[in-house]
Amino acid sequence: MTIARPSKQRSPKIIYVTPSHQFPLGMTMSLARRTALIDFARSCDAYIFEDDHNSEFRYTGPPLPCLQGLDNVGRVIYSGTMSKILYPSLRLAYILAPEQLVEPMIKIRAVMDQHSPAIDQATLARFLTEGFFLSHIKRMRKLYSDRREFFIEQFSHLLSKYFILEIPEAGLHFVAWVRQKEHMPMITRVCAETGIRPSPLSSCFMKAEPKPALTFGFAAWSRAQIREGLSKFASALNSKLN
Ligand SMILES: Cc1ncc(COP(=O)(O)O)c(C=O)c1O
Repeated sequence: MTIARPSKQRSPKIIYVTPSHQFPLGMTMSLARRTALIDFARSCDAYIFEDDHNSEFRYTGPPLPCLQGLDNVGRVIYSGTMSKILYPSLRLAYILAPEQLVEPMIKIRAVMDQHSPAIDQATLARFLTEGFFLSHIKRMRKLYSDRREFFIEQFSHLLSKYFILEIPEAGLHFVAWVRQKEHMPMITRVCAETGIRPSPLSSCFMKAEPKPALTFGFAAWSRAQIREGLSKFASALNSKLN
């Protein structure tokens, strides 16, 4: 596979990608595309910024190497975050950069805000080195996998009349496409009335107008909460749209 580029377009200097889980649509980049992207970056001397958020929460499909692992010419800047593994307000993430970028990046960070809180970093370092990190990820992957399965089952049972649920291989949310776009205003009203708050997919787009869809997070909710929320949503929709 090769990546075509119109001849008039200028070469990129940096390419930002989320290969484990595209946000918001949720696709995982195939191995063929990963290697083609690295070849492309090499051919135009560009860097790839690999935002690998959610790589820890992959439930199906073959294991895939990250771009950084496939790259042997130092074109990939890899980044991971604690926001999904632990919690977003911790505000800790990390970058694995090619040697030549380490010093410039440290300088940029120093001008931005010097550094992240030292006590939080030290606590996280102990969490990592004392073996809690891996066991935590394993436990959460199992929990989220169970919630994900349950969400799919309940959603398909209760709401497939109105939505097509997109099932990604990884991540902590689903995209549900609205089957009939004329239903969208009423769906928006029902969300406001019931307090069920999926985000409209359109909120992620500046110009392009995607087909109407909602994004539903599932990871923060127990089975009972998922069942209760989706049942409430479905019965409100049934009463308005039938
Ligand atoms: C595409 C993408 N990358 C990274 C993150 C994590 O960002 P941060 O580490 O700033 O919380 C998110 C959070 O939702 C995201 O959607």
